[in-house]
Amino acid sequence: MKHIKIALIPGDGIGPEVIAEGVKVLKAIEKMDSDISFSFTTFPYGCEYYLENGRMMDEDGIEKLKEFDAIYLGAVGYPGVPDHISLRDLLLRIRKEFDQYVNLRPISLLNPSLTPLKSRTEEDIDMLVIRENSEGEYAGAGDWLFPGKPEEVVLQTGVFSRKGTERIIRYAYEEARKSNRSLTSISKGNALNYSMVFWDSVFEEVGKEYPDVKTFSYLVDAASLYFVSNPERFEVVVTSNLFGDIVTDIGAAITGGLGFATGANINPEKAFPSMFEPVHGSAPDIAGKGIANPIAVIWSVSQMLDFFGESNWGKAVLTTIKDLLREKDYHTKEIGGSASTRQVGNRFVEKLIKSM
Ligand code: NAI
Ligand code: MG
Repeated sequence: MKHIKIALIPGDGIGPEVIAEGVKVLKAIEKMDSDISFSFTTFPYGCEYYLENGRMMDEDGIEKLKEFDAIYLGAVGYPGVPDHISLRDLLLRIRKEFDQYVNLRPISLLNPSLTPLKSRTEEDIDMLVIRENSEGEYAGAGDWLFPGKPEEVVLQTGVFSRKGTERIIRYAYEEARKSNRSLTSISKGNALNYSMVFWDSVFEEVGKEYPDVKTFSYLVDAASLYFVSNPERFEVVVTSNLFGDIVTDIGAAITGGLGFATGANINPEKAFPSMFEPVHGSAPDIAGKGIANPIAVIWSVSQMLDFFGESNWGKAVLTTIKDLLREKDYHTKEIGGSASTRQVGNRFVEKLIKSM
C-alpha cells in the first residue's frame, strides 16, 4: 500500500477553484486503486493570508510543509499585494528551501484544435522541457548602486555552479536515455561568454557518459524560432532558469494557452517534498466565476503520479484529458466553450472511471 501525504495550498483567485477539481481526481483514483491512498492537509497560505497576517505563510511554514511528500498548489497573486512578495515569499521560497532544482514542463499538444500553428498534430508538438529551477539568472545575486543618481548602476548576476549545472544536465540525460528520446540543450554561448560557455561545456562533458543519447544544442533565439516553426525538432530539452521560463511560455502558446500548461518542481532525491502546480496564475479577471479551465491542474495530478512511480495512473490521467478534449461540450470559455470548471472536473472523473 502506497500512501502519499499531500499538502494543499489552493492559494488565491482561481487557485482554489481548480485545485478542488484536481483533488476530486485524486480521490477517484484512491477509490479505484486499493494499493494507493492519499491524505490531504490544507494550508491557507497566499495573499489573503498575507493581508491578514503580514506574511505569505506561517513563520514555521517550511517546517510544517517538510513532512509532506508533495505540495499541490493552485496559484498565488492578488491585486494589492505586490507580485514580487507573493511569488518570492511563498513559491520561490518553497522551491529554494526544498531544493526543487528540477522544473519539469511537458509541452504536448493535447488536441489539434488547440494549437494556433497551421496543420500541426500531437506528434509534432510533444516535448518535455527540463528547466533549471534553483540558480542561474534567478539566483537573486546582484547590486543596486547609487540609486537615483546619474552614476546609478544595477547588476543582476547569473549564478551557474558546477554542482547546479551538472545535476540538471545529468537529470536531463537520464530522462532522455530512459525514454529513448533526443536531448536538446538551449543556451547562448555566443553572447553570455562565461555562464553559457560553461553550460555548453558541461553539456558536452556529461554527454560523454551518454553516447546513446542523440543531442542537439541551440542558441535560445534560434530555439524560440524553432518552437514555432519546427516544434517537431524537440523531444527532451534542458535549459537554464530564465531561458526555460521564456521558452515554456512559447510552449504554452503553441499548445493552447495557460489552461493547458503544467509544471512540477522536483527534488529528485525525495529529501524534501516536490511541488505540483499549474503554470497559470490566480487569474483575477475570471476568479469567482467558476469558468477557469481545470485541465492544467489535472495534468499536474498526472505528473505527481508519475513522480511517485504510478506511471500507469499518470498515463491514464493524460489519456483521459485527451479523450475529454474531443468533447466540445466540455470546453471552457477561453477556448470557445461554455463548460464550467466543475462540469469539466466531474466529466473527467466520470470518464476516468469508465476507462478503467
Ligand atoms: P494569469 O495566469 O493569472 O492570467 C493570464 C490570463 O490567462 C488571464 O486572462 C486569465 O484569465 C487567463 N487564464 C489563466 N489561467 C486560466 C485558466 N486556468 N483557465 C482559463 N483562463 C486562464 O496571469 P496574470 O494575469 O499575469 O497574473 C495574475 C496574478 O497571478 C498575479 O498576481 C501574478 O503574480 C500571479 N501569478 C501567479 C503564478 C503562480 O502562482 N504560479 C504564476 C503566474 C502569475
Ligand atoms: Mg513563467
